[in-house]
Amino acid sequence: MTVDAAPRFNRDFVALTRGRPAIAQAGEPWMGQVEHRDGHITVGAGIHPADTRRLCGVLHQAVQPGPTHLTLDFSACTGITQAVMLPLIPIVTSCREHRGIRFDLVLPSDKALSRLFVNTNWAHHIAPEAFEPNVHRGGHVPALRFEDDGANGQDAILARVMELILRKLETSRDTLKAVEWSLGEIMENVPIHAESPVGGFVQATAFGDGNAVEFVVADGGVGIAASMGAGDDESALTDAITEGVTRDPQRNAGNGLFGSYQVAVLSGGAFELRSGKGVLWRRGDGDLNTMQSTVPYPGTSVRCRVGLGDPGLLARALRFRGQSHDPPRDYLEREYEDQAGLLILNMKEKASGDFGSRRGGRRIRRMVRNLLQARPRVVLDFEGVGIITSSFADEFFGRLFVSMGPRAFMTRIRLINVDATVEGLIDRAIIQRTRLGNSEE
Ligand SMILES: Nc1ncnc2c1ncn2[C@@H]1O[C@H](COP(=O)(O)OP(=O)(O)O)[C@@H](O)[C@H]1O
Ligand SMILES: [Mg+2]
Repeated sequence: MTVDAAPRFNRDFVALTRGRPAIAQAGEPWMGQVEHRDGHITVGAGIHPADTRRLCGVLHQAVQPGPTHLTLDFSACTGITQAVMLPLIPIVTSCREHRGIRFDLVLPSDKALSRLFVNTNWAHHIAPEAFEPNVHRGGHVPALRFEDDGANGQDAILARVMELILRKLETSRDTLKAVEWSLGEIMENVPIHAESPVGGFVQATAFGDGNAVEFVVADGGVGIAASMGAGDDESALTDAITEGVTRDPQRNAGNGLFGSYQVAVLSGGAFELRSGKGVLWRRGDGDLNTMQSTVPYPGTSVRCRVGLGDPGLLARALRFRGQSHDPPRDYLEREYEDQAGLLILNMKEKASGDFGSRRGGRRIRRMVRNLLQARPRVVLDFEGVGIITSSFADEFFGRLFVSMGPRAFMTRIRLINVDATVEGLIDRAIIQRTRLGNSEE
């Protein structure tokens, strides 16, 4: 099976989670069904984030006798999220690569959910011989693997998450920095501490409804208690999110998990950590919870949801030893700013995949709005762009012009290297949209 099917998994995801709380607490009652019989694991109905522990537990038990072959059957599954699926992937991968267990996957019979399995790369990571990876680079960030030695892998993943936020959500520069810092710290912990034979896996999703981003990072390594030399999994997790706690004070500051936890909680998001038998979770508005589970998670998994609404988040959340920490050289500086600090959007490089549609126009409009939060002016460089569709031009230029007003548009947005055809399309879009107004958006 290939992944030519439309890469629409966020919409599917939202549809599938509608009507249920988007964030569950790890200690909430079991809601889905998981059964194991003779190498056949069946996952039925809706699987809640709270069910991760059960699902990982059943898988853990199923691999104990050392079978050569297991089937993961999701045919009756009606809803599932990255919070549940991503932590399974390092377990499956290490069983396949290091214990020679082959996994077969039965996709959900629900069409939208089945597409979600393919587009998110869950299917690929469970049964790589049967499912190609999703190579579509626009939009969302499917489950991606980063290896121990691949610093570049982590940078490329960070860039994809930053682009996801810029195009899909509303963010200030400082909030974007807080996400960049947290995800960077959590991913970096894998090569530094985990000793994971399968590296790390990460997935990120943008939630337009709550203007939040959620990422999950999981590895199949030694776990937090073992790396810290602690005896008890549950209290090791509480220590790990405490300021300044590190296994190696010479090398590390011990702020990675503490800072990420603060970012998640103070933004009204959520944070969840599982490692060995320990589980720790907190929703932004609730209390910190921990528990000792009966079945261990063979590695470490971190789920971090960050609400992007508060531009003061960075200063409030990243405070170490009483001082605010402002990470230097953020993504916008590295990727968009020239030497003089001018923000330049290279349209060919950043927007080629968007020129064909209204949806693309909306994404780029959102992005320019976000860039204008960071700096008073943005330069749009059309070098090498020969054509754009009028739907894109209307959705991006027409609507942006009308919502900003002519004076602000002309002082804050500069177009350079625009080809005559493209200029004609832009002018026409602006003129027509000015007549119509933005009302039916
Ligand atoms: N993925 C992981 N696998 C194993 N241990 C981890 C992992 N992430 C964090 N830890 C443990 O938690 C401690 C705290 O992590 P962190 O707050 O990022 O601080 P630092 O990395 O500076 O030590 C680490 O020193 C390490 O012992
Ligand atoms: Mg760290």
